[in-house]
Amino acid sequence: MMKINLTHSQIDLNELNLEEKVQKIDEMITKKTGAGNDFLGWVDYPLHVDQVELKQIKEDAKYVREHFDTLVVCGIGGSYLGARAVYEALKGLYPEDPFKIIFLGQTFSGTYIEQVLRVLKRRKFAINVISKSGTTTETSIAFRLVKKLLVEQIGDEEEAKKAIFITTDKEKGLLRPLEKDGYRTYTLPSDIGGRYSVFTPVGLFPLACANIDVDALLLGAKEAMQLYSNPSLKENSCYQYALTRYAMKEKLAKQVELFVTYEPHYQMLSEWLKQLFGESEGKDHLGIYPASCCFSTDLHSLGQFIQDGNPLLFETIIYIDSPLHDVTIAKDEKDEDQLNYLAGKNLAFVNEKAFLGTLDAHANSGNVPCIVIELDKLDERTLGHLLYFFMRACAMACYLLDINPFNQPGVEVYKKNMFKLLGKK
Ligand code: PA5
Repeated sequence: MMKINLTHSQIDLNELNLEEKVQKIDEMITKKTGAGNDFLGWVDYPLHVDQVELKQIKEDAKYVREHFDTLVVCGIGGSYLGARAVYEALKGLYPEDPFKIIFLGQTFSGTYIEQVLRVLKRRKFAINVISKSGTTTETSIAFRLVKKLLVEQIGDEEEAKKAIFITTDKEKGLLRPLEKDGYRTYTLPSDIGGRYSVFTPVGLFPLACANIDVDALLLGAKEAMQLYSNPSLKENSCYQYALTRYAMKEKLAKQVELFVTYEPHYQMLSEWLKQLFGESEGKDHLGIYPASCCFSTDLHSLGQFIQDGNPLLFETIIYIDSPLHDVTIAKDEKDEDQLNYLAGKNLAFVNEKAFLGTLDAHANSGNVPCIVIELDKLDERTLGHLLYFFMRACAMACYLLDINPFNQPGVEVYKKNMFKLLGKK
């Protein structure tokens, strides 16, 4: 189902002698004793999903689809990227489903927000506000604005409550008290942080509204959990990946991990990965900078640098064999564009050759180390597996560097400055 190819990585895991360390870290993850252990709830969450809440989520999602044509999801960072990554990866960028998900609360851009509000005036929408803290300014402003529009549209504040769904911390924060006012409220468990929350209601409610099979997503996560809860480096491809990227920095002095996909609708998956690794690993002046490219698009902009420029990066390529949709290239009698040599071939065939040709060029001619993660197809189950794989690999990667994967102290500095400038008391 999922294969990791380390042939082009330039790393020999046997030379690292880190088997014992990996075993110790695995125990720290499984027994939840590592740094930041009060945020290790995601590790076995797929086994402990609250079935009552899951049933409620599915019922509410059905209600939302029956009564509305749009769900506005307000959230940022970990309260946003997982749902959007899964939604786009499984639906594509122009899905046929008339029910739309619109993401808001991830920017202060007045242009973006005003344009979304204009679109919403022509739609019948419900809101899912997602914030663990309830104090995130981008999310709070968006929620205030979109809620006002909803109340105006429905014409009654009490009635509008039926169209508002809150996802927040079990006890803490500014949103939880609203439950008493009659808002449906789902729980982000206290021991799970935003960027590890895609399998909780943070991801499940919007995805269920989009008609995505959340049971299959959770099944994939559960299967991955069982597979990668294995302390043996020889048998555990998740830890092999974590160790290989660790060695990229330690042995080959690589500073940047470039996540590469070959489909535009996987770009949000790369954004999710960038947050996962960036916020988890980037502290104490350590970590590998996570970047992303979508090929072949970016081969026509950044390909030159990757092939021949400063050798600071390695690639982690996520390649999916069967695309969501495919197109056959038609024959043209005149053949003025000289493409008839491809007539009858599918774009999946062309994309695959672009992938293989690029891998050869970058790995062999450009000497860029490449890790290849290959899946037959991307559906709910395989995507659940893939997301869990990366979450667990990220925890292993951080603990290899003695870093707490679950805090983000550096993010607070800009907020403090911004609040001072805004005159917040
Ligand atoms: O991963 C994280 O913890 C962060 O990215 C948060 O999800 C993000 O800052 C949003 O926070 P909140 O859910 O409190 O609004």
